[in-house]
Formats: sequence, structure tokens, C-alpha cells
Amino acid sequence: MIEIRRGRLEDHEAIAAIATDTFEWGDYVASVYPEWLEEADGEALVAVDENDQAIAVVHVRLLAPQEGWISGARVAGDHRRQGVGSLLNQAAQSWLQNRGAVVARLTTEEDNKAARSQVEKLGYRPVANFIHGHRSFPPLGVTNGRPRPALAERANGRPRPALAERANGRPRPALAERFDLAPAAEAEPAFVVFSSGGLARSAHGLFASDGWNFRRLHHADLVSAARRRQLWTCPSGWVAIRPSEERMWVSLLVTSAEDSRGAIRALVDLGEEHGVESMELIVPRIGWLEEALASEWVMLAYPNVVYERPLP
Ligand SMILES: CC(C)(COP(=O)(O)OP(=O)(O)OC[C@H]1O[C@@H](n2cnc3c(N)ncnc32)[C@H](O)[C@@H]1OP(=O)(O)O)[C@@H](O)C(=O)NCCC(=O)NCCS
Repeated sequence: MIEIRRGRLEDHEAIAAIATDTFEWGDYVASVYPEWLEEADGEALVAVDENDQAIAVVHVRLLAPQEGWISGARVAGDHRRQGVGSLLNQAAQSWLQNRGAVVARLTTEEDNKAARSQVEKLGYRPVANFIHGHRSFPPLGVTNGRPRPALAERANGRPRPALAERANGRPRPALAERFDLAPAAEAEPAFVVFSSGGLARSAHGLFASDGWNFRRLHHADLVSAARRRQLWTCPSGWVAIRPSEERMWVSLLVTSAEDSRGAIRALVDLGEEHGVESMELIVPRIGWLEEALASEWVMLAYPNVVYERPLP
């Protein structure tokens, strides 16, 4: 007899055994499971057998008052195709519904046939495709071992490195434009361009709010990003950048087909100038955007599908 209950710390070992080498790149569930137990807006749910032994896990979280996110579904190999994954997903939907969510969303890799057919059978529909972009920068970057200023500090009137220095010796034409911190007034035009251009349509209005978690973008998100000094602007677009030590995590890129190359080039320059090790971003899969990213040596990987299901 299978039961669903809240996950506990005692289940960690069983879950680590289930979530081992799940994908070609490994698995992250065992390392984050203890954090799921601490979340105020989320929960780990486990399926247990008659001995109260965990045989499956899922993570559920409210990303916004009415928007839920389900992730990290793992069923032990010898318990698959017995309806356990579906039971857990339905329990996660109830969890969200009880907290006021009107929609549940999740993502799977494009080639994960098992997960895709499972969630489609549960009534989810695919709404958007996203891909991860990664760009490495030369090890020493422009900082040459000097301490790295926080990204937002750059705009405080510090002298910027000379152009030749910024290009790390690569021959490069003069920069056409560069990103600067955006005031809150920039939230409006950024939101209009996002909403009216191809971006919102392809992304179903969603953005990667925190890594591989997607929720709807609102004008207020851009205002608060600007107030936290995380919204940047250049003539070709806007980016929201989450603070991070060595990596530049771009949580939102707003540009148009015509301006995309200029925006991405300026973004790469921002990373080089700051001396980060790499730039990471999750963007909707749109031909012109993928081409513009590839032209600046941004490596694209992990194509994913985002699914959505309205909650009754
Ligand atoms: C995806 C996963 C969670 C599904 O869990 P599960 O308990 O085996 O799924 P269910 O038994 O509830 O399956 C329900 C339906 O989904 C579909 N399905 C599930 N696994 C499938 C597979 N391997 N191939 C094709 N269809 C599959 C079937 O339609 C199935 O119904 P059926 O058995 O009556 O034909 C499980 O395979 C798993 O842990 N995979 C590894 C981790 C993973 O990929 N997680 C999802 C990340 S997004």
C-alpha cells in the first residue's frame, strides 16, 4: 500500500539512493532535498511503502500567490509504471490548490519521453520551450587578480577599464553600446517590449525566476529588479541579473530580433568587464535569439519544455 506524506530528514538517505545518476549529467535532488524541508513556501512530498520507506519524491512550491511549480520528481526504478509518479504529482497539485494557486507548472527535458507522456496523461499541456546558455570568460578576465567589484557597484562612477583591456587582446571593433544600471522608470518600456514582441509569445509570458523555475513576468518584477539594482539597460534591450559571486546569472533578457546581436554583445562585454568566470542564462527557444547567442560563443544546452495545467 503506497501512501503520500510530507518528506522528513530521515528520508534523505532513501531519496539519495533513488536520485542517483538519473540523467547523463547526474542528479541534483539529493543535494537540495534538506533545503526543500526548510522552505516556507514549498514542501517535499514523498511516497512511502508499507514499511514507511520512501520510494519516490517530488518538490512543490508557490512561486507567486497563484502560480505553482512542481519539480524534482523521482520514482525508484523498481516502482515505476505503477502510478506512483502520477499520485505524487496529483498530491502536489492539491497542495498548490489548497494554498490558492490557479495553475501548476513544471519542466522536463525535451527528450524525456517518460516524464512527457506521464504529465500529458495528467492533463498538462506544453506552453513554451527554453534552453540554457553558458558563456565562459578567460580565467583572469580583465581584473588580473584584483578583487572583483559587485556587479551593481560598477555603475557608481568608477573608472571603466580601457577598451583594449576589456577585449583581452582579441581584435574587436569598438563597442557600439554597453549596459548600465536602469532606473525604475525603465521597467515600463522593458515590459512593453517583452509583452509586445516575440519574446512573451514564445515564452508564454514566463521567465526563469530562479534557475529552472518559471512564472509569469509582471511589470512589478521589473520595478523591484531596478530597485534592487539588478536591472540593466542598453539601447538594444534590458537584462535582469541576479547577484552571484563568480557567475553572471541573467534571469531575463528583453530585446527584439533586430536588436538581439547588439544586446548580447553588450551583455558579453558586461561579463568581461566585470571579470566573472561565466555567464548563465535561460531563454525561450526562438531562432533569432539562439543565432544571436551562438554568434557570441554562448553554448546552448538542455532544451526543456515547460508544461502547465490549470487547477480547478
Ligand atoms: C518520470 C517518472 C517520474 C514517472 O513516474 P512513474 O511512477 O513511473 O509514472 P506513472 O506510473 O505514474 O506513469 C503514468 C503514465 O505515464 C506514462 N509513462 C510513464 N513512464 C513511461 C515510460 N517510461 N515510457 C512511456 N510512457 C511512460 C504512461 O502513459 C503511464 O501510464 P501507463 O503505465 O498506464 O501506460 C519516472 O519515470 C522517473 O522517476 N523518471 C526519472 C526521473 C525523471 O525523469 N523525472 C522527471 C523529471 S521532469
